[in-house]
Amino acid sequence: MNKTVVVAGHKTLISTDLPFLTPFKKGKVREVYEIGEHLLIIATDRISAFDVVMDTPIPKKGVYLTAQSSYWFKELEKAGYPTHFVTDDFDEIVKITGITELNSVKDDLDGRVMLGKKAAALPIEAICRFRIFGSALSALKNSTWIWEPITLEGELEPGVKIVNGPAFTPTDKSETDEKITFEQMTELVGNDKNLALQVKELSVGIFQFANKKAIAELGFEIADGKVEYGILNDELILIDETFTSDSTRFMPDKSKEVFRQWLISNGLKGKAATIPDDVAMEVSKLYREQCQSMGITLK
Ligand SMILES: Nc1ncnc2c1ncn2[C@@H]1O[C@H](COP(=O)(O)OP(=O)(O)OP(=O)(O)O)[C@@H](O)[C@H]1O
Ligand SMILES: [Mg+2]
Repeated sequence: MNKTVVVAGHKTLISTDLPFLTPFKKGKVREVYEIGEHLLIIATDRISAFDVVMDTPIPKKGVYLTAQSSYWFKELEKAGYPTHFVTDDFDEIVKITGITELNSVKDDLDGRVMLGKKAAALPIEAICRFRIFGSALSALKNSTWIWEPITLEGELEPGVKIVNGPAFTPTDKSETDEKITFEQMTELVGNDKNLALQVKELSVGIFQFANKKAIAELGFEIADGKVEYGILNDELILIDETFTSDSTRFMPDKSKEVFRQWLISNGLKGKAATIPDDVAMEVSKLYREQCQSMGITLK
């Protein structure tokens, strides 16, 4: 049985239980099942911050995340970037996979599922930054910036723009997401310098593409964010989620960053917090508004 709970009067999805499928990975937010060459990626309503999953889920968060991610995957595919994306249409997923049992849980899952091509995930997070925030600000302040030198458009303060951004600032995929140099990243991707360069160049290209579109057509900016890659048939492809409120910092900010700040100002950083109804709804609204700024029509 899938696990749900009512938050502020809304049914929210905590976790899934699909005995007719093979589990592939249970992440902090998403639950992934393996169907042959495909992965069924389900975004629950869980929210994690500072690597801890909160006690309270956020109404419809999984639906908003899936919609945001699917939007970018479709745009990136159209622009010729290779991605894992197959479809986010529930009926099409049933048709492609032939798993008719899914129809019995359509109510819980519709809008939260994406079918992706299964790849061998690289153990790194490809972070790109157009502006300096968060850990990048600390790194510059403490002289622990380990990536290519950058020039700032102004004083070192939160939000300052990087001249000729985005800067490529990868981390590993350990529990604590340690920042790694380009050389360390090269080691992590199998000592393959060509592959490492490809990861960097593709990331910069993808971020430039998305930010240009966001500024010109959607009325927001991407300040920083992360994408992930996998290898499929010897090809580097974009996997996981892309430019969502969980993975990206937008300006104006309609991302998880706003929730992180709430945790910090309430002394809850690093705790599995119980979120009051009004805060849960505020976060849900932010994620929905990000969908709206992307012109997404929600069912
Ligand atoms: N096409 C794909 N092929 C292989 N693995 C994938 C693919 N798409 C996504 N994944 C993996 O599925 C998982 C998605 O789950 P999720 O992001 O919730 O977990 P997490 O990374 O452990 O946690 P968090 O993102 O909260 O730090 C990730 O480990 C991601 O690397
Ligand atoms: Mg993840």
